[in-house]
Amino acid sequence: MVQQPFIDYYKEKVARFEAHLAETFPDIPPPVAILDESMRYSLLAGGKRLRPILLLTTIECAGKNADFALPLACAIEYIHTYSLIHDDLPCMDDDELRRGQPTNHIKYGEEIALLAGDALLTHCFSLMSSSTLLEKISAVGLLRAIHILAESAGVFGMVSGQVADIQKYMTLEPEETLTFIHSHKTGALIKAAIQIGALLAEVGDSDFEQLTGFGVEIGKCFQIQDDILDVTGSQELLGKTPGTDEKNKTLTYPSIFGLENSKELANSCYQQALDHLDRTGLQTLRLRELAGFVLKRDH
Ligand code: IPE
Ligand code: IPE
Ligand code: MG
Ligand code: MG
Ligand code: MG
Repeated sequence: MVQQPFIDYYKEKVARFEAHLAETFPDIPPPVAILDESMRYSLLAGGKRLRPILLLTTIECAGKNADFALPLACAIEYIHTYSLIHDDLPCMDDDELRRGQPTNHIKYGEEIALLAGDALLTHCFSLMSSSTLLEKISAVGLLRAIHILAESAGVFGMVSGQVADIQKYMTLEPEETLTFIHSHKTGALIKAAIQIGALLAEVGDSDFEQLTGFGVEIGKCFQIQDDILDVTGSQELLGKTPGTDEKNKTLTYPSIFGLENSKELANSCYQQALDHLDRTGLQTLRLRELAGFVLKRDH
């Protein structure tokens, strides 16, 4: 059978995911129409949808149809979008452009942006704990998925990474500090997407472990490339303003190791990610291609 080119595969997956995301958006009461508008504004504004696609593709790599997991793919994008809204606030990175449009607080004001983020975060757990999911996923499986996501988004993941990021000083050796920041603020959610996919596909322990290793490496690769693009990328392609890290004196790979070393480090994470896939018994072509996209992306 001739394989569909990766770019078409990705576009098709994004279209299916985005249709589900829009269809299942909650009915928010009319008196708070502004909350409805501001949540939709950021959630439905596009973006790469990498985390949901990783979740769905991981399930497919185990030879299963991933449609049953679309609600969980949405849940992770709710958390990711909340993290972007809060990351852009004046008290954080103070950014004015996101996903090609004015940031949520520029459009709706800081109070609404803060609350839209809160609402997206909380609704994620409403989506994941909906009893309708029990038709396709066991209660134990759901509980474990919720636990993975909560841990990766909170004190053991993204929030701690964001705290380390805004502290702007080395708490450990440079390499260790950056690994801590990147693996927490960004890597944790990417790894969680893959782990939840692996869990829902019911892969064996050894494959779960290798997929986790894959997630760790592409999470790191993803944020190194994000740092690189903040230096070399174009506003038009990124849909956000480059140069933010320098403006904010954020600790990044290019600022500590230089651009060329950062590119080499990203490539080494990519290679290690592929090594993990080689150690699974799964059909990993699409995950390999997604790793290539993470490394080579220009947006
Ligand atoms: C941006 O994430 C924030 C980081 C963790 C670096 P993405 O680059 O995945 O943003 P979208 O979802 O495509 O807009
Ligand atoms: C943010 O990292 C990670 C998040 C938890 C949102 P960045 O601050 O580098 O992300 P961008 O560059 O604003 O997308
Ligand atoms: Mg930031
Ligand atoms: Mg930022
Ligand atoms: Mg960045």
